[in-house]
Parts: sequence; C-alpha cells; structure tokens
Amino acid sequence: RRKLTKVLSLACCAALACLTLSGCGSTQEKRTIRIGHNQSTNHPTHLALTAFQDFINEKLGDKYVVEVYPSELLGSQTDMVQLTQTGAIDFCVASNAILETFSKNYEIFNLPYLFASPEAYHKAMDDPDVTEPIFDSTKKAGFTAVTWLDAGTRNFYTINKPIEKPGDLKGLKIRVQQSPTNIEMMRLLGGSATPMGFGDVYTALQSGIIDGAENNEMALTDNGHGDICKYYSYDMHQMVPDILIGNNAFMESLSEEDRAVFEEGFKLVNQVEREEWVKAVENAKERAQNDQQVQFVYPDQQPFVEACRPLHETVIGNNPALQPIYDQIQVYNLQYPADTKTGGDK
Ligand code: GCU
Repeated sequence: RRKLTKVLSLACCAALACLTLSGCGSTQEKRTIRIGHNQSTNHPTHLALTAFQDFINEKLGDKYVVEVYPSELLGSQTDMVQLTQTGAIDFCVASNAILETFSKNYEIFNLPYLFASPEAYHKAMDDPDVTEPIFDSTKKAGFTAVTWLDAGTRNFYTINKPIEKPGDLKGLKIRVQQSPTNIEMMRLLGGSATPMGFGDVYTALQSGIIDGAENNEMALTDNGHGDICKYYSYDMHQMVPDILIGNNAFMESLSEEDRAVFEEGFKLVNQVEREEWVKAVENAKERAQNDQQVQFVYPDQQPFVEACRPLHETVIGNNPALQPIYDQIQVYNLQYPADTKTGGDK
C-alpha cells in the first residue's frame, strides 16, 4: 500500500512536472512578434501598436506574443527597415520618406504639395488603387507595407528667424529625412539640406549644427524641438505618411485564418492611430504655444508651391509607372481642394 502511495505520489509529481514543462513548452512554441518604431510611448503610433498587440493577444494569444519596441530601442528607422528585411524583427514603422531608397515608387508620396488638402491625402491613402502599386513594390526587398499611419503635415521650424518665404531659408541648415526627394526639395527652396535620422535632431538643434528642421507639430512637444525652435511656419510642404511594414517570409508563413486576423489588426492600427492623431496634434499645438512659447507663422504658400513644382515632373518623368497613380491623386485634389481660409488651421 505504502508502495502504491509512493508510486502514485511520484506519478503525481511527474504529471505536475510534465504540466509545468509543457506549460513552458507551449510558451516557447508561441511565436514572438517584434515591432519597432521611433516614437515615444505617448505617441499615436505607439497607442495604435499597443491596440494591435492587445488584439492579437485576444484573438491568437495561444500562438503569438507581440512585443512593441518604441523610441528607437531597435535602432533608427533605417536600421529597423533593414532588420525587417532580414527577418531579425517582424514589423516596423518607417516614414515613407526613407522607404524611397528601398523602392523608387515611394518617391511619389514624398513629393511636396502632392495633396491639395488633408482630405485629399486621406482619400488617396485609403484607395488601394493608389497605395497597392507602391506598397507591393518592395516585395523583392523582403518586406511589404501593411498599412499607413497619419503623420500630419510637415512645416519648417527654426531657432532664430521665422520662415515667411522660400528666400528666408537661404543660408540656413535645415534637417531633412534621409531621402533624395527631400534633399532636392530643400535645394529648390533655397535652404541647405542636412539629412540625419530623427533621433539625432534634438542634439543637432541644441548644438547649433542645424538652424532648424521640418516636421509635424508633435516634433515640437513630444521630441522637445519646440524648447529650442521658437518659430513654426505653416508652409505645409508635405503630407508624408508613416508606413507599417512587415517581413515577407513571416507574412507568408501565416495560415489563411491567422492572416485574416492580422489583416484586421492592421486596419485597427490605422484606425486607432488616426483617431489618436487628431487629438495629439491639437494637444501639441496648444502645448507648443502655451508652454514652449512657439510662435506659429502663416506664410503665403504659393511661392513655396511654385518653387517645388519641378520636382513633380522630375519624379513622375523618371518613373512613368507612377503616372496613373499621380493622375488619380489629382482627381481627389479636385474633389477636396485646399481650404484657402485655413493655411494650417489658424
Ligand atoms: C515624423 C514621422 C516619423 C519620422 C520623423 C522624421 O515624426 O512620424 O516617422 O521618422 O517624422 O522626421 O524623421
């Protein structure tokens, strides 16, 4: 009898150990999905990716664990795109600006004054006829775009003098994203382009290596650039989307059912980010004005538009496959023209 009890208790122990081990085993079997981005944890991008994390956990938590790495923890955007290409990580958010070095097709969304209004921009980016030929163009490079995120409108901001007209940029070193289109844009506007990664801009401003930069309003507050730059000029030169890209091998490894859940998750990322974006920009403007004493300047946009125009011909001329997409964007521009009363929501 004692022997039986002993055997039974041993068996129990073994079963328990087995359970624990298989528990560990099942965690180990879960596929960890790593997503990197370069924004803070308050930023709409992070909030959207956290919503994605929760969604995948709720729907497919037995198979996947999603980890979101903010604040360039996995490197600059260029580093993260390369990590996504090789599959070292599965997803990252990259500005459309830097993606043009991976596929020329992305140049189109980097064109200054491509979209007549935020509405035209949103309609175009929601139209698969516009985005698919661009989003699929990096397949050979190992990644695909799965959705886009609103990054607002890009404007110049400077330390010492407000930009009222393109001529005011002369002699100023302005940080731009690492994209040939942006460098050419600065040349056409008369400023001196200083390309660098986002994470280096604050120090470059602080040490006077650059005289200013260009970005949406969140850069003033969330990244502290408004502590140094006191003039923000609504020339509204670009609406450059951020793009969530995924490693192809990972995407192709998903079963049809799992893929459908992921696709739903990508839609959620877009939706949450856009909702949060509206609130975040409002908040950033208020804080920049009240807490950082940034002055908002509303220049006549026309001279900026005219200076940049040749870039449209160059980019579309060099890549005729972009022409139908460009034409479709013009349809949205006609439908949703600029609201001339509000040069940047006065
Ligand atoms: C915005 C954009 C980022 C980008 C940054 C930049 O913040 O959302 O994706 O990296 O501008 O200017 O580099």
